[in-house]
Amino acid sequence: MSPLISQPLLVLFTGLPGTLKTYISCRFSQRLGCMWLPSFAFGNIKEPENENSLQILRTTRYYRCIDTLKTLSLLSARVVMDGGFMDPILQHPVFACYSACPKLLIRCEAEPDSRLARLRIRASDAMDVEQASAESIINSPTTKIKIDQAVPSNTETPAELGCDAIIHVDTTHFKWHIKGTLDAGLQEKIAFALEHAFNEFRATDKTFGHDAVKRNFADLSPCYEETTEWRTNTTLLAQLRVDLPKRACNVLDIGSGTGLASQWYTEQGHNCVGVDLSPQMSVRAAPRVLFSAFGSALDLPFFDASFDLALIRQMLHYTEPTLALQETFRVVRAGGFLVVSAAIALSDEVKPIWEEFKNVTQPLRLRVFSEADLIKLIKQAGFAVLETRHNNLIRSESFDQLEHRTTAPGSGWVPFLRVMEKIFAGLAPQLEFKVNENMFTYRQYWVTLVAQKPLVNH
Ligand SMILES: C[S@@+](CC[C@H](N)C(=O)[O-])C[C@H]1O[C@@H](n2cnc3c(N)ncnc32)[C@H](O)[C@@H]1O
Repeated sequence: MSPLISQPLLVLFTGLPGTLKTYISCRFSQRLGCMWLPSFAFGNIKEPENENSLQILRTTRYYRCIDTLKTLSLLSARVVMDGGFMDPILQHPVFACYSACPKLLIRCEAEPDSRLARLRIRASDAMDVEQASAESIINSPTTKIKIDQAVPSNTETPAELGCDAIIHVDTTHFKWHIKGTLDAGLQEKIAFALEHAFNEFRATDKTFGHDAVKRNFADLSPCYEETTEWRTNTTLLAQLRVDLPKRACNVLDIGSGTGLASQWYTEQGHNCVGVDLSPQMSVRAAPRVLFSAFGSALDLPFFDASFDLALIRQMLHYTEPTLALQETFRVVRAGGFLVVSAAIALSDEVKPIWEEFKNVTQPLRLRVFSEADLIKLIKQAGFAVLETRHNNLIRSESFDQLEHRTTAPGSGWVPFLRVMEKIFAGLAPQLEFKVNENMFTYRQYWVTLVAQKPLVNH
């Protein structure tokens, strides 16, 4: 039996904060090959000023999610939605807006002590996107907890809510029971995916790993778009163009960051989905995409052949590129496209010293690519390279920025950068590498590769 689901499906997860709803729904959707729609994609709920503002936020979020679900329903998508805490009265319209297919409500529940313990962990984790909200729940039990504790009773029936079945999941004891009926094959897959999510939670920590990268982008997210020239450069963004079919295509932006590249495709009328390792970056991408998920490029939470185009802009150097491109190949349909856009080493001759320079100034970067490296990796994954586009721009970086990112080499930033200036002046004057009073500048070279997944797999 394939663990993946191939028919349209809508699963809505709800539960109070601290019931592992987000963790379980994300893992569950990955296991079944469904799209995961986190509630924060529709606007994150943060420290509401009062009960009234919390209610307004919830309502706004609710209308946004209904619009998205209607579109996904037309696409016959398999959707697992982490609905946050949703009033029972709102669940019925969520199910009603999705056209005929199996519909399932999963309520995550946990005993108050384990909820509180989990909320404490989240409140102390600076990388957690819900840190502030967890803190506010712990600190103001009379406001938010009270609202959230309007828990629907166990007496509700699937028919009342407009779904086929309700599963109550107890995440204190990792048990579950189902009310209502589902097709036996589907129920078996759902049971498998739930057990898998439980086992993973018990066996590992609750993150996707890659902690240093996550921490870096959690810190950087508020000023991400202002700190470096390339990010919003319109010429560079325009190089992402691909001759896509004249319809709204499904585009996946892998390592989407704040969604700048997605936005370019959204503006052309396509349906963009972002996925990023950093929840803080995903949240910022949400307004620019159909929905924004957090997850790893090495384990994409999407079904095979779901996308007309996958896009990877300035992300491959943070991860294992062969595996990430294999995963990308899997989720792109036959005849679909891949665009990889990245800053590269100017030439193979310059590459070793450029690597040295980047190791010191950007230690999170796992590797430096030349254009030939990227072409080789893309071909190895099974794509055919169709076009290569070049660009360059001046990049400047202040010593403050460097200081913030990493510790200076023993000699300090200025002596180190002066040595680099000298080396590059002889080896690669095109880099125009210059050290000024409190910053350094150089010409950054970019390649954008357009590739295609063959129609027939050889
Ligand atoms: C330099 S930013 C690029 C963002 C965006 N593509 C753009 O063009 O602005 C790199 C992004 O890749 C994400 N990232 C790094 N490793 C990743 C991985 N293994 N899976 C998914 N995202 C990852 C980071 O969290 C970050 O948001």
